[in-house]
Amino acid sequence: MVSMDTLVSLCKRRGFIFQSSEIYGGINGFWDFGPVGCEFKRRIKDSWWKRMVQERDDMVGVDTSIIAHPQTWIASGHVDSFNDPMVDCKSCKRRFRADDILAEEEGARRCPECGGELTDTREFNLMFQTHVGATADSASLAYLRPETCQSIFTQFKNVQTVSRKKIPFGIAQIGKAFRNEITPRNFIFRSREFEQMEVEFFCHGDEADKWYKYWTQERMDWFLAIGVGKKNLRFRPHDRVELAHYAQSCIDIEFQMPFGWSELEGIANRADYDLKQHMKVSGKDMTYYNEANKERFVPYVIETSLGVDRTALAVLVDAYREEEVRGEKRVVMGFNPSISPVQVGVLPLSTKLKEPAKKIELNLKRYFVSEYDDSGSIGRRYRRHDEIGTPFCVTYDFDSEEDHAVTIRDRDSMQQDRIPIDRVPEYLRDKFEGS
Ligand code: GAP
Repeated sequence: MVSMDTLVSLCKRRGFIFQSSEIYGGINGFWDFGPVGCEFKRRIKDSWWKRMVQERDDMVGVDTSIIAHPQTWIASGHVDSFNDPMVDCKSCKRRFRADDILAEEEGARRCPECGGELTDTREFNLMFQTHVGATADSASLAYLRPETCQSIFTQFKNVQTVSRKKIPFGIAQIGKAFRNEITPRNFIFRSREFEQMEVEFFCHGDEADKWYKYWTQERMDWFLAIGVGKKNLRFRPHDRVELAHYAQSCIDIEFQMPFGWSELEGIANRADYDLKQHMKVSGKDMTYYNEANKERFVPYVIETSLGVDRTALAVLVDAYREEEVRGEKRVVMGFNPSISPVQVGVLPLSTKLKEPAKKIELNLKRYFVSEYDDSGSIGRRYRRHDEIGTPFCVTYDFDSEEDHAVTIRDRDSMQQDRIPIDRVPEYLRDKFEGS
């Protein structure tokens, strides 16, 4: 399996991910996605949105604000209990998650960095605070959302009314979330700013178990559909003691990272906890009325919640491979074409052939995410496209001028097919459909 160091360096070299504010020495827990990385992330999100929203009749989307009324976080339980236990080192002032180091050190109260004495364990709230408006007092206190789902709950009635959806149905959202993690680590796995893709699926309490089972399998199937290897994925049910305060049951989808099996997604039966809480704190009605049998009830919620960044990391780890070709090492990101940041590279053999090659690329852009590339030798350009996982490269050479055909190179087999220029879109479409 690829090491994290190798992956981090490839991500920087090829424009997937940079350290945030690198010129100022970086800022811990924050990352910037570069030209290749932002396209990659966008395609992961598109794939999720297509399957979860576009292709379903029982799902609608929302895009809600990052800052919500602070009462939201009182009702949700985050103000009181979204805490991690932490300890500080009295000498070097570093801060640690108590559960991380006390477990490792078996109760020894010495700093793992400098050997200094540690403070007693204290609770640390993970929400970032800010102030809304000109005054910075307690009345203007607000929070950056630590999860995207709460506004789905607070907007449940509005969304249900305007969409005219009948229960069971779901509300989906993709958006940024923020947590002041005590120890951000493992590259983009645990950061302080990240993106979530969440579904809150509202159903009758009697059907909650059925839907919980359904979503558990459906979510695993999506990971397989975007090409993540089955052997690197597994389910891990939570036991009673680790269940979040809102959850009746929860199961994680885990991925085998270079640093061990790690959570990518949680599927939870949140029962009617959230709607009831918001009903209590806001005083507004959150019930649903079933016209068919005249029943009024507070719906149960099955939640599926995953991080875009963690998914991106899992796909990067899973896709990385090194091969030996004619005595040389070749690094390939074997992404499923449906989520490759670039789908087609168009490469003229020489800069003298720029004009006709550009014309081909301009046409391909209408159907695929394509990229024109004429810098460096053709070998170097193929190597770069292998490393960013481009499934197909179209090469325009001097013969193309005569035979009006181009060479299409397959990333994985490295096989090259000669295809008439006017048939290239069709050829590629067939390839993408078959993948
Ligand atoms: N609404 C439920 C919820 O937020 P969670 O298990 O705390 O549940 C869901 O988070 C997902 O969000 C996680 O499975 C993970 O993929 C992602 N996530 C959580 N904290 C993260 C962090 N600090 N950095 C990156 N991703 C994170």
